Order: sequence, then C-alpha cells, then structure tokens
Amino acid sequence: MATLSAAKTRFTTEDDITAEVVRRFERTPDPRLREIMVSLTKHIHQFVKDVRLNEAEWWQAIQFLTDTGHMCTDKRQEFILLSDTMGVSMLVDLISNARPPGATESTVFGPFYREGGPAMPPGGNMAEGAQGGTPTIIHGRVLDMDGKPIVGAVLDVWQADPEGLYDSQRPELEELHMRGIYRTDAEGKYLIRTMRPVHYQIPSDGPVGKMLRATDRHPWRPAHVHFKITAEGFQPLTTHLFDDVDEYLDSDAVFGVKDSLIAKFPLHTTRDADSEKFGIDPPFCTAEYDFVLARPGNNRRC
Ligand code: BEZ
Ligand code: FE
Repeated sequence: MATLSAAKTRFTTEDDITAEVVRRFERTPDPRLREIMVSLTKHIHQFVKDVRLNEAEWWQAIQFLTDTGHMCTDKRQEFILLSDTMGVSMLVDLISNARPPGATESTVFGPFYREGGPAMPPGGNMAEGAQGGTPTIIHGRVLDMDGKPIVGAVLDVWQADPEGLYDSQRPELEELHMRGIYRTDAEGKYLIRTMRPVHYQIPSDGPVGKMLRATDRHPWRPAHVHFKITAEGFQPLTTHLFDDVDEYLDSDAVFGVKDSLIAKFPLHTTRDADSEKFGIDPPFCTAEYDFVLARPGNNRRC
C-alpha cells in the first residue's frame, strides 16, 4: 500500500519536474552533452513556465515543427531557415567565428551554396546568360593580417540572379548559374564579373513564412554576394558583401549584416578609366573590397 512518504518522492509540482529531469540528465557520461541537455532542460522548462504555455499552444508548436520537417528536401532546409530567422544561426556564427580585429568578419552561410561552381579566369563572367540587371565588377585583394597578399586564395562566389532567385529555386534550370570559383593572382588580386546583386525574399511558402506573417515580419534580405574564401595556412572565411544603398540593410530577415561587410557599388554611366581597365562598356557598377584572412588559432574570445 502506498504510504504518504512514498507519495512525496513523486514529481507533481512545476519545480519538482524540472529538478527531476535535470537529475536524470546529470548522469550523461559525455560532459559536453551533459552540459547541453541540463541547460536545455532548464531553459525550455523556464520558457514554458514564463509564457504559461497551454495544451493547445503546445500542440500548435508540435504541428509547426512537424510541418517544418515535412518542408525539408535535398534543395530546401526549412530548419536552417527557422534557425536563421530566429537569429540563432548568427549567434552561433558570432560564437564560433570570432576573428581578431582587422580580419574580415564572417556571416551566415545560408541554404543556397552548391558544390562544383565553375572555375573562372580573372574577370570571367559568372552571370553569363542572366536576364536584366546591371553588369558589375567586384575586385580587390585577399590579404593576411600583416597586409601581405595571399597568392592562390580560392574565392567560391554565389548570388541570386537579377530577379532575386538562386539557380536551385528555378526548377527549369538543371545547371549551376550565378556561381564561380576565382583565384587570386601573384599580387593577391581577384577580379569577378557578375550582375549587381538585388534584394530578395527568403523562401516564405512554408511554416517559416507563416511565422513571419503572423509576427508582422518581412522576408527580405538586403542585396549581397556570398563568398567562401580558402587559402592554405589560413582560417576559411564564409561571408557576404552587401550593397550600401540597399533599403533592407537595417532589417535583414536573417540578421546577417555587419557594418564591415558593406561595400559601395558606384554606377558608371559613361566610358571612364574603369571601363578601359576592366574591358566593360557602360552602364556598369564596380565594387572594391579587400578580404583579410586570419591564421588558425588567431581568434578573439567574446
Ligand atoms: C542567403 O543569403 O542565401 C540566405 C541566408 C539565410 C536564409 C535564406 C537565404
Ligand atoms: Fe543570399
């Protein structure tokens, strides 16, 4: 027969249940997994208590996460999109990729990177066949922390087309588009020919879009070009260059903008020294930016 003292060991209050779940995870052999599970339990329980989550809302959350999973395919990662729009991807980036002052800052990777971009000669056009848009030259150097050129650095570059879509968002397009892999020359210089980036909407036809609409948030990302830069003996860098006149710089749907990554894209409307230098007819834009890579282990602690 159950006694009163035995009943006391059951977990029926809001605080009892948290303490007991924490106690069970405290036996986890891997110390990092233990730290994560204990902290997650405490925070998730506190969140439920803070908002006094009721059963209908709990069920709605389960449904939302189920829909998010069902939306994922090999071309669509709705969980990453959720992480991006909740600011979690940027938080993890800030924690994982802190660089010393002077090194180029990183930002979100995003879901649209594809392996196997075409190798481009200096000045090769990665926007061949694009409809509309303003031809653009992006140029500069890849440097080390002492300002010395890095020879043979690899810049894997990708961006949305002038209509604001990535190639993987066009079902009719089999091949890669608006992508290219460039290398720095003996002076550390790179030269990219593309189209001026445009602002575009992140995919909002799934549960994340529903969440944005329900919370009166817009789905726009400011115009940018993506870079993944690697060089032997240096930390890889995943970053963007943003266009400084874009109207969404202060409200990026995924919180990816950093001041140091904003570049000017001046428009050239008549023939000038740059049209001669880069062999391009007006109208065109230019953007000049030097990337600075840090050596491994050279990280600023937050
Ligand atoms: C992107 O810039 O490609 C991107 C980043 C996060 C979410 C969606 C798109
Ligand atoms: Fe993008």
